[in-house]
Amino acid sequence: MASSFMWTLCLGILFLAYGAIAAPPRAPVNVPFDRNYKPTWAFDHIKYFNGGNEIQLVLDKYTGTGFQSKGSYLFGHFSMQIKMVAGDSAGTVTAFYVRGFYHNLSLSSDNSEHDEIDFEFLGNRTGQPYILQTNVFTGGKGNREQRIFLWFDPTKEFHSYSVLWNMYLIVFFVDDVPIRVFKNCKDLGVKFPFNQPMKIYSSLWNADDWATRGGLEKTDWSKAPFVASYRGFHVDGCEESVNARFCATQGKRWWDQKEFQDLDGLQYRRMSWVRQKYTIYNYCTDRSRYPTMPAECKTDRDV
Ligand SMILES: *[C@@H]1O[C@H](CO)[C@@H](O)[C@H](O)[C@H]1NC(C)=O
Ligand SMILES: *[C@@H]1O[C@H](CO)[C@@H](O)[C@H](O)[C@H]1NC(C)=O
Repeated sequence: MASSFMWTLCLGILFLAYGAIAAPPRAPVNVPFDRNYKPTWAFDHIKYFNGGNEIQLVLDKYTGTGFQSKGSYLFGHFSMQIKMVAGDSAGTVTAFYVRGFYHNLSLSSDNSEHDEIDFEFLGNRTGQPYILQTNVFTGGKGNREQRIFLWFDPTKEFHSYSVLWNMYLIVFFVDDVPIRVFKNCKDLGVKFPFNQPMKIYSSLWNADDWATRGGLEKTDWSKAPFVASYRGFHVDGCEESVNARFCATQGKRWWDQKEFQDLDGLQYRRMSWVRQKYTIYNYCTDRSRYPTMPAECKTDRDV
């Protein structure tokens, strides 16, 4: 059992897509902010509502702010409901990401242990569309950006943004639509995060040097403060402990099971709908940047 579980093949499990055995992740459970998270910086720029079930991050010309998970996790499902900065949000970036650094990274200069799974929401002028940029760093290598427009206005309602991470794949979900899959392609020589726990982070900050129309649109500070609202705070992961390595080898958690090892046909159809209608940029198809298609892109069926 343990050995077959470890025997992951990037291309070898695509057959699952044709079966009907895949399933959406377990439904998130909404919990108060402080169950799973704590502020990281500029504590006075985080506001709490409804007993801490909802919070707001505030960006003004003095500072942005952010928070991080209390625990570190090796695999799991992490989900957040966010309502993005409304109105004129040009220049602002709201990020939700999962990051692992070996704990003594400060000692190593090459970042070769840097693993990261990123959602970045790039604001815009009133009425102009946000961009959702995603990226994946494994073993210090990033430069795997994809950019999409959303099919809704993310400032009007809360929507859920989540990451499912197991030995087989990383899936980015927007509500229940998978917008991106990064498979474990270690058999093709691509590193995959599997051996270091990660923390979950979120922040709101000013990035008007690049965020909106490539930096042409600057933050209008007369519109400050900029506010992003959060709730949900669902974390279902294998928490770091002396035994955390068993998270990777035993295959007993729900996300390890067969139905979560690949997307199903419907999920792939939804992802290709996003590709066809909403994708602005995909590094997998950028031949000027990558004359040879990166190996992990071979599993990206719409390329
Ligand atoms: C710190 O990093 C070095 C090299 O990156 C590694 O060999 C060592 O085991 C690490 N030490 C701890 C305590 O994690
Ligand atoms: C902002 O709006 C402009 C004009 O519609 C668009 O070109 C751009 O992609 C939008 N999003 C960002 C984040 O720049």
